[in-house]
Amino acid sequence: MTKAVYPGSFDPVTFGHLDVIMRATEIFDEVIIGVLHNSTKTPLFSVEERVNILKKATEGMPQVTVLPFSGLSVDFAKACNAKVIVRGLRAITDFEYELQMAQTNRELESGVDTTFLITSLQYAYLSSTTVKEVAEFGGNISKFVPEFVAKEMQKKLREKREC
Ligand code: PNS
Repeated sequence: MTKAVYPGSFDPVTFGHLDVIMRATEIFDEVIIGVLHNSTKTPLFSVEERVNILKKATEGMPQVTVLPFSGLSVDFAKACNAKVIVRGLRAITDFEYELQMAQTNRELESGVDTTFLITSLQYAYLSSTTVKEVAEFGGNISKFVPEFVAKEMQKKLREKREC
């Protein structure tokens, strides 16, 4: 049985991430999405909220599990008994960072390798950061994230403004 982990921040999950997840389920029997809890960053959504959003977004994908993690991605992969880390690659700008991360991870844990899925063309420009920026300024994000995620973002941004 082939198992892979797909670690990331997913703040928020976009159609680009979902495309990678769906394609990963066509390659691996089980795909475990690892949602990073990074205490040095202030995400829009808490790790619990991001896990719940991803669970809802992947409801129709029985091979997918969503778990929070903190620390190293390779340790998360080892704890899940997975030998493969999946990452999406959008453009040449992603490559340098992803290459460095994949090589670092392999130095840390030679039993865990990274597989890259090239992001589908229609999502090549998408990033969680730009989606957040568009939403913050009241732009339409329906092309970038599922409808329920857009609603959750608008609710969260309203709450933030009221604070
Ligand atoms: O969605 P992102 O923010 O591009 O995901 C980045 C992520 C979570 C995969 C990366 O930051 C990561 O693996 N963080 C955990 C710490 C780690 O393993 N660092 C070593 C790799 S250099």
